[in-house]
Amino acid sequence: MCAEWTKSGWREKPRIQMPDYPDADALQAVEAKLASYPPLVFAGEARRLRGELAAASEGKAFLLQGGDCAESFADFRADNIRDTFQVMLQMAVVLTFGAKCPVVKIGRMAGQFAKPRSSPVEKVGDRELPSYRGDIINGFEPTDESRVPDPNRMLQAYMQAAGTLNLLRAFSQGGFADINRVHSWTLDFTAGEEGYAEYHELANRISESLQFMQAAGVNDHNADSLHRVNFYTSHEALLLEYEQALARVDSTTGVPVAGSGHMIWIGDRTRQVDGAHVEFCRGVQNPIGLKCGPTISESDLLKLIDTLNPKNEAGRLTLISRFGAGNVGEHLPKLIRAVEREGRKVLWCCDPMHGNTIKSETGYKTRPFERVLREVREFFAIHAAEGTIPGGVHFEMTGRDVTECTGGVRAVLDENLSDRYHTACDPRLNASQSLELAFLVADMLHNRREAQRAAV
Ligand code: PEP
Ligand code: CO
Repeated sequence: MCAEWTKSGWREKPRIQMPDYPDADALQAVEAKLASYPPLVFAGEARRLRGELAAASEGKAFLLQGGDCAESFADFRADNIRDTFQVMLQMAVVLTFGAKCPVVKIGRMAGQFAKPRSSPVEKVGDRELPSYRGDIINGFEPTDESRVPDPNRMLQAYMQAAGTLNLLRAFSQGGFADINRVHSWTLDFTAGEEGYAEYHELANRISESLQFMQAAGVNDHNADSLHRVNFYTSHEALLLEYEQALARVDSTTGVPVAGSGHMIWIGDRTRQVDGAHVEFCRGVQNPIGLKCGPTISESDLLKLIDTLNPKNEAGRLTLISRFGAGNVGEHLPKLIRAVEREGRKVLWCCDPMHGNTIKSETGYKTRPFERVLREVREFFAIHAAEGTIPGGVHFEMTGRDVTECTGGVRAVLDENLSDRYHTACDPRLNASQSLELAFLVADMLHNRREAQRAAV
C-alpha cells in the first residue's frame, strides 16, 4: 500500500478515461516542455489550504468550491473570470454571515479542462464521433478531425491557467476583494432582481458594521485581512501526463507537490484504488478531493482513505458526495458511520450537481434548481442526525447570465434553456441561482449553529 511513489508510477497502473495520443513523439515533446515551465502554484499555498480545510473539517470554517464544469479556450476572457470570482465573493459573504466562520474559497478554475465521459463516442445530429474530452484533449467542434487528441492543447491549457490564475491573484490581493467594496460586486444584469434585494440588505449591514469597526479603531493599517482574500484553484486530476509534467519537489519539505492547482480531485469514474489516478494523487502533498457517487462501498472508501491519507491528517482529504436528490439517505449515512468507526479525519462536502442531471423535454441536459437544493438539504439533515459536520458545498456555476439549469426565483423554464446555453459540458447555475443557493445554505448553517448552541 505504501510502496514508494514516483511521479511516473501511475504509468504502471491501469488507466481509464485518458486519451490515446496518436503521435507519441509530439506527446513527449509537449511533456518535456511543460516539465521545464514554472509550476502554477507553490507548495506553501497548498499547505496553507490544507490548514484551512482542516479547520472546515472541524466546523471552524466552511468550504465553497465552484466554477465551470469545463473551462474552454473560446471563453477565456477577463470578464468571465471576474464575474465568476465576483459571484463567489458574494456567496462567501452570505455564507460567512450564516455560518459565522471563515469561508474557504476554491475555484474550479485555472486548470479544469479535462472531462471524463460516459461513452467514448457521442452522437451529434446523425453522426457518431469520438466524445469531446475537454479543450485540453480535443476540440468541441463536431468533426472527426477536431476530436483527435492533440498534446499541444496541453500547452495552451497551461498558458490559459497561468493567465487565469494571474488575474485571480490580482483580484484577490489587489483591492477588488476588499470587503468595503461589498456593494460593488453585484453584476449589472442582476440589478433590481428579487434575490438581490436580500444581498443589498446584507451588504448594508456589513457596511454599517465596518463603519462601527472603523469608529472603534479597526482600520486599514491594522486589519489587512479586510482588504484581501485567499482564493485557491482546483480541478479534476484526470490528464495525468499534464499533472506529472507540472509535479515538482517542494524545496522546503522535500515532498512532491502538484504544481497544476492548489487542490486536485479524483473523479467518481476514476477512483479505482489500484488505478492510475489514485496512484498519482497519493504521492503529492496537495489537499485531495475524492468524488463519492452511489457506487462507492464502505470498504472501497476505507481503502481509498488509507491510500490517500495514510497518516490520517486533517485537511488532506475532502470527500465530495454526489448521490442525487432522494438518494443521499441510502448512501451517505453508512459511509459516515464507516469513517467515524475507523476514526478517519475527512472533510465532508456536498456536490449537488452531478447526481441531478436530467434531459429536459426540449432535449437539453439540465439540472432543476429544486433538486440541487434538495440534495444539499439532505446532506445537512444527515450530518445533523449522525452528529458529524457538513463542511462544504461544491457547485458548477458561472457569473454569467446563462440559462442551463431550470428554476430559481428568476425561474428559468424548459423553454428558456436554448436562450443562453453556453456550457462546454454540464449545465451550470447562473449568477442569480448561485446567490440564491448561497442564501439557502446560509440558513442551513445558521440553523445548525443555533441547534448546537441550544444543545450546550
Ligand atoms: C465533475 O466534477 O465535473 C465530474 C465529472 O464529477 P464526477 O466525477 O463526480 O462525476
Ligand atoms: Co460536471
